[in-house]
Amino acid sequence: MNVTVIGTGYVGLVQGVILSEFGHKVICMDIDKTKIENLNKGILPIYEPGLKDILEHNVNEKRLSFTTDIKEAILNSEVIFIAVGTPPSDDGSADLKYVLECAKNIGENLNGYKVIVNKSTVPVGTGDLVEKEIEKVLGKRGVKFKFDVVSNPEFLREGKAVNDCLRPDRVVIGSESTKALDIMKKIYDVLYINKTPFVFTNRRTSEMIKYASNAFLAVKISYINEMALLAEKVGANTQEIAQAMGMDGRISPKFLHCGPGYGGSCFPKDTKAIVEIGKEYGENMSVIAAAISANEKQKQKMVEKIIKEMSGVSRKTIGILGLTFKPETDDMRDAPSIDIIRGLVINGAKIKAYCPKGIEEAKWRLKDLNRDIEFCENEVECSKGSDAIVLMTEWNQFRGMDLEELKNRMKDNFYFDLRNVHSKDDNVRKIFRYFPVGQC
Ligand code: NAD
Ligand code: UGA
Repeated sequence: MNVTVIGTGYVGLVQGVILSEFGHKVICMDIDKTKIENLNKGILPIYEPGLKDILEHNVNEKRLSFTTDIKEAILNSEVIFIAVGTPPSDDGSADLKYVLECAKNIGENLNGYKVIVNKSTVPVGTGDLVEKEIEKVLGKRGVKFKFDVVSNPEFLREGKAVNDCLRPDRVVIGSESTKALDIMKKIYDVLYINKTPFVFTNRRTSEMIKYASNAFLAVKISYINEMALLAEKVGANTQEIAQAMGMDGRISPKFLHCGPGYGGSCFPKDTKAIVEIGKEYGENMSVIAAAISANEKQKQKMVEKIIKEMSGVSRKTIGILGLTFKPETDDMRDAPSIDIIRGLVINGAKIKAYCPKGIEEAKWRLKDLNRDIEFCENEVECSKGSDAIVLMTEWNQFRGMDLEELKNRMKDNFYFDLRNVHSKDDNVRKIFRYFPVGQC
C-alpha cells in the first residue's frame, strides 16, 4: 500500500522505516527541513540501534522516501499516519497544536478516500477533533471526500524501538469503520500473519489504552521506588524484594527496578496529561497523581542522599556517568539527570559528566549551568579529580568498567550507584564508599 507518515521523530521515523520493511511504499514527511535534508543524505536525526541498516535497505529498494512537501505526501497515499509530538502545555495537558495542524494540512490536500491513523499519544476524543478539523477544511474548499480517522497508539520503547515495531506485544486499533479496519489489517498484514495479538476496539477506548498503559508502568516504578526509600531505612534489599514480588505471575518482575525516578518524553508527560483529562471530566486520578509526586520526591531524595553521605557537596566535584533518561538513546527529555545535576549544583557542587550519546543534547539543556559542568570524553576522564561518581544511567559499557582505575584517578572514593549496576559485586564495596538504591 502507499503510506505517508507525518513526523519523523522517535516514533514516526521508526514506524515509517518498519512499514517500508513490511513492503509498503512509504513517504516520511516532516516540516523540519534539516531533518529531511539529512535523511535524504542517509543521516539519521536520532540514535536508535538497528534503524540505519533497515532504513538504507528500504531507500535502496525505493520503498522509502523523505519529503517536506505535504501535498505530495498526501496526494499519493491511501493511509496517512500522524506521528507528531504532543508535548505538555503549561498546565500538564497534552498540547494538540501539531496534531491539529496535520489535520488541517490533510483537509487542504485530501483528494479521495483515505484512512488517517493517529499514532501520537492523545487525549480521549482527539480522533473526533481531527475528524472535525478535516471536515471544516473540506467545507471551506467546497469539496466532499470520505475519510476515516483511526486510533492506533504506539507502544515502542526508545532504544528498543526497531524490535518493538517488528515484534510488538499487541497492536491496538480503534475504529468504528469496517472499511478502515480492513485497510489497517492490510497495513499490519505481516504482524497479523505472525499471530501478533490485535485489539480491535472503538476509537475512544483505543486512545485511553495508551494513557492507561503508560500511567500503569509509571505507577509501578514509583511504587518500587517508594519501597526502596523505606528498604534503605529498615535495612532490607529492594532488588530481592522486587525479584520475589515478580515471581508472582500477577505482579511480574518487569518495571520493578528502583532508581533515580522515571524520565523520558512519555511517562512524565503522559501521567500529567491523564491527570488533566481526569480533571476535565471531574475524576480525581489520585493513584497517578501520587506516582507523579513520588517521582519528583525520588529525584530530590537522590540529591539529599548524596549531600548527606558526603557531608555536603560545596566545592566538591561529582562525576556523573550517563545523562540520558535510559541507555541506548540520545534522548534527554525529562531525564532525571537534569534535576539531580541542578540539585547538586545549587548546593555548590562542580560536575564532570560523561554519556555515550547524551552530551550534545545535555549541553543545550543545561547551558545555564555551563560554568559548573565539564563534559568529558569517557568515564576515566570523568573520574579524574572527582570526589564522587554518580552512576545515573545503566549503559552497558559502565557494567564492565575497571573500578580500580576509576578510584585511582579520583580525589575521594564515594560511589552512588543509582541503577544498582554493581550492587552484587562485593569488590565494589572494598574499593568505594558505595551507595546503591534501596539497599545497604
Ligand atoms: P518527536 O518530537 O521526536 O518528533 C515529532 C516530529 O514531528 C518532529 O520531527 C517534528 O518536526 C514533526 N512535526 C511537528 N509538526 C509537524 C507537522 N505539522 N508536519 C510534519 N511534521 C511535523 O516526537 P516522538 O517522540 O516521535 O513522539 C511523537 C508522538 O508519539 C507523541 O505523541 C508521543 O507521546 C508518542 N510516543 C512516543 C514514543 C517515544 O518513545 N518517543 C513512544 C510511543 C508514543
Ligand atoms: C515508555 C514505554 O515503556 C513504552 O511502551 C511507550 O511506548 C513509551 O514510553 C512512550 O509512550 O513513549 P520509554 O520512555 O522509551 O518507553 O522507556 P522505558 O523503558 O519505559 O523507561 C522509561 C523510564 O522509566 C526510564 O527513565 C527508565 O529508566 C525508567 N524505569 C523503567 C525505571 O526506573 N525502572 C524500571 O523498572 C523501568
